[in-house]
Amino acid sequence: MTVILGIESSCDDTSAAILKDGLVLSNVIASQKVHEAYGGGVPELASRAHQQNIIPVVSEAIKRAGIEVKDIDAVAFTRGPGLLGSLLVGTSFAKGFALANHLPMIEVNHLQAHILANFIKEPGVESRQPSFPFLTLLVSGGNSQLIVVHDYLKMEMIGQTIDDAAGEAFDKCAKVMGLPYPGGPIIEKMAELGNENRFVLPRPLCNSNDCNMSFSGLKTAVRKIIESYAPDNNIEHAIIRKQDIADICAGFQLAATECLIHKLKKAIVTYKTKYPQGKDIVVSGGVASNPYLRRKLQELADLEGLAFSAPPIKFCTDNGGMIAWAGMERALKGMYNDLDFKPRPRWPLDENAPKAAGAGGVKA
Ligand code: KG4
Repeated sequence: MTVILGIESSCDDTSAAILKDGLVLSNVIASQKVHEAYGGGVPELASRAHQQNIIPVVSEAIKRAGIEVKDIDAVAFTRGPGLLGSLLVGTSFAKGFALANHLPMIEVNHLQAHILANFIKEPGVESRQPSFPFLTLLVSGGNSQLIVVHDYLKMEMIGQTIDDAAGEAFDKCAKVMGLPYPGGPIIEKMAELGNENRFVLPRPLCNSNDCNMSFSGLKTAVRKIIESYAPDNNIEHAIIRKQDIADICAGFQLAATECLIHKLKKAIVTYKTKYPQGKDIVVSGGVASNPYLRRKLQELADLEGLAFSAPPIKFCTDNGGMIAWAGMERALKGMYNDLDFKPRPRWPLDENAPKAAGAGGVKA
């Protein structure tokens, strides 16, 4: 099996990639602009946009990789978790593509793929690969989890958010500040101009001893600050200077990062105790694009005597490259799908990996 088409459609990015002989040759991402007006992803609009984008995105990925459809040996696709309507578009397209071209299909768990993005290799690009077992902080728009990764497909969750995901908190705070969606990149930019100590925000759950996280209180605290700038406490009427917004962004980014670092420290204690041979911490998911967080994680790793790695920025947010890569790992274990599957909007990443089902497609 040498050439894999990876298809990602779990949320609001339509993406496709081509992986050939263990290298990602192309990775095309169509980020859906339609959600900007709403300050958050709108599931129904996301599935419509996937329907519109999927063929051009796949065609472009094939073109940029310099291959033809007939060169593809298998189709890897995100089966879940994610928005059902969005998953239906990607899985249905993948089924049609596989049937028409007599290809086997490989289901991929989106969360596992985010983590495996740390292994992606590209032509001519040096990359550092973590060694098993490593500890991962997975922080995206839909998830915040701490996971010990034992193998490409064997993962053990040791903590998670009990309410909002870290990325969701960035998005919701941006929305109350009147900043565009997705909130992460713009908060990162505004925070560079701000004073992170002017607004003191809470660190939810930081006094609990477990590795679980919480971000909804942080979001509420930001909302309350914005309300205080409105004569009638209505955020729509808030009159607020750009510098104030920058200071709030900096304070929020500091608080969110400190919550993550605090829980990661707790997870490191468990990791070092249970797996003394472990020596790597890794970050993944959309929030892993944040340079401030990456810097703080590097500092923590140095303090703890651990190595730190993170995927290149383009493989942090949702992308087909990570799906193709995770698909390759499953293909190497002979794990293909029959065609009679449905998407899995909920699919824990630590569920036992399904047994190899044999090459369910037509072309082995
Ligand atoms: O991984 P992803 O594309 O989607 C999920 O699988 O959930 O992550 C998207 C999330 C959004 O919430 C976005 O605001 C956040 O990642 N994000 C960032 C940054 N870039 C994207 N958060 C903080 N800083 C960033 N630079």
